Amino acid sequence: SKVRHFRWEVGYMFWSPDCVENVVMGINGQFPGPTIRAKAGDTIVVHLTNKLHTEGVVIHWHGIRQFETPWADGTASISQCVINPEETFVYRFKVDKAGTYFYHGHYGMQRSAGLYGSLIVDVADGEKDPFHYDGEFSLLLSDWWHKNVHDQAVGLSSNPFRWIGEPQSILINGRGQYNCSLAAHVSNTSSSLCSLRGDAQCAPHVLHVQPNKTYRLRIASTTSLSSLNLAIGHHKMILVEADGNYIKPVAVDNIDIYSGESYSVLFTTDQNPSTNYWISATVRGRHPQTPPGLTILNYHPNSPSIPTSAPPVSPAWDDYGYSKSFSNKIIALQGSPKPPIRRDRQIILLNTQNKINGFNKWSINNISLVLPATPYLGSIKFGLKGAFDHQGPPDNFSRNYDIMKPPMNPNSTQGSGVYTIHFNSIVDVILQNANAMAANVSEIHPWHLHGHDFWVLGYGEGKFSEKDAKRLNLKNPPLRNTVVIFPYGWTAIRFVADNPGVWAFHCHIEPHLHMGMGVIFSEAVERIKKIPEEAIACGLTGKMLMHNHGG
Ligand code: C2O
Ligand code: CU
Repeated sequence: SKVRHFRWEVGYMFWSPDCVENVVMGINGQFPGPTIRAKAGDTIVVHLTNKLHTEGVVIHWHGIRQFETPWADGTASISQCVINPEETFVYRFKVDKAGTYFYHGHYGMQRSAGLYGSLIVDVADGEKDPFHYDGEFSLLLSDWWHKNVHDQAVGLSSNPFRWIGEPQSILINGRGQYNCSLAAHVSNTSSSLCSLRGDAQCAPHVLHVQPNKTYRLRIASTTSLSSLNLAIGHHKMILVEADGNYIKPVAVDNIDIYSGESYSVLFTTDQNPSTNYWISATVRGRHPQTPPGLTILNYHPNSPSIPTSAPPVSPAWDDYGYSKSFSNKIIALQGSPKPPIRRDRQIILLNTQNKINGFNKWSINNISLVLPATPYLGSIKFGLKGAFDHQGPPDNFSRNYDIMKPPMNPNSTQGSGVYTIHFNSIVDVILQNANAMAANVSEIHPWHLHGHDFWVLGYGEGKFSEKDAKRLNLKNPPLRNTVVIFPYGWTAIRFVADNPGVWAFHCHIEPHLHMGMGVIFSEAVERIKKIPEEAIACGLTGKMLMHNHGG
């Protein structure tokens, strides 16, 4: 195994992701940021310098568990202090498992500002994937607003509340087409001319393929808001990987992908080779006001021109039955690690939309998460009282809460308390969805756990009950790091607390997290040996270090 070094500078720059010029957050002048490619067992070292001038930055390596390096998880106020302008922080961590991952900003709404890129881990030398392919491509999906994230964030935390609305464009590898004839191909909306010149920043990405070969397509979603459906015109696909874990191969026409998830599919170029085909990413789960993101599958030796066939048809945006049956198709590949059969602790998390002093929030068991000034990792390790709420949040919610109705009392509270998890304990989390503030509204939320993979034991409708507890799938549940809760439904997961650190567990929809939709797991922090000082040189831990150094 190798140590792979990267030197990155994060900065704002002008860019036209969807042919409309805007300011994006880039890395080394690139948007999306550079792709990291490594082999399982390698060590990644990223020297990250902040060139943003007036704001801090951190980067989270989504899906990498950070065994023995919890300070490299890249979560502001949780695993580390933000990197100040002109400062450099060194992320050093091991990538222990092959799979499709990505990285992104994890401070404020910097992910929505464009701070993201792909992280791909191949099998170690001498190892093999449990499937064959001749070539591969990767697609990083995101959504894009013309309103900048500062405006977005201020609107979300204003009274009256201002929602960010639907995105202007869906981007594939950072490229989209706003309101142009390429989109008109699909939606028949009135259109202006697109810049399709190959050198335009918004020109669609092209996948060059040879006929009669099998390709692996890696797909990851770092959308701020949108749930997507990805399809390749006229081609079937076989799902083989989810969130860095092999799954039982299953043939599908298209895939649903939520923010925070990644998949690999195999497809064979067995269609009429005299034409090109569309690959589309269509909005689902919210009434779409955004044309699909598009990319071109170019059969050799055709020119990489616009396909003459129509883009693939995706399921209706509100066909949740379709979404559920898709999610239920994903089960573990035979021989994958099985969950322990008993749990030590069960935490039930009710997801609700609330008001706090007239401001719109999301709460979990009636607490809306606010992050403290001092990162938890340091304040917990050194027992610094007063760094965050002393009292931990509840493991359950009131049993008579009616999840089918808007909250009876919409008032909630803010909090920074943590769930303290014992080393090696087996934890079940039941994510319980509910009605939002308005009647007859319940949204999709993709939940992502840092520091772990978990088994998805099942999904269900309505309020989770003991009856449901008996029917969980302990036979072949898939391992994942992100899972969705459907409207008015619940999702059950199980994980082993074998990774000392402080880990966020939150909705991966950026504005929801911004509005408090997450919890913090403090796991066996007493077992962490030496936290690098650079990670905790701020807030109360910063003061403590100054005293220790005789300052
Ligand atoms: Cu990709 Cu805490 O998120
Ligand atoms: Cu959410």
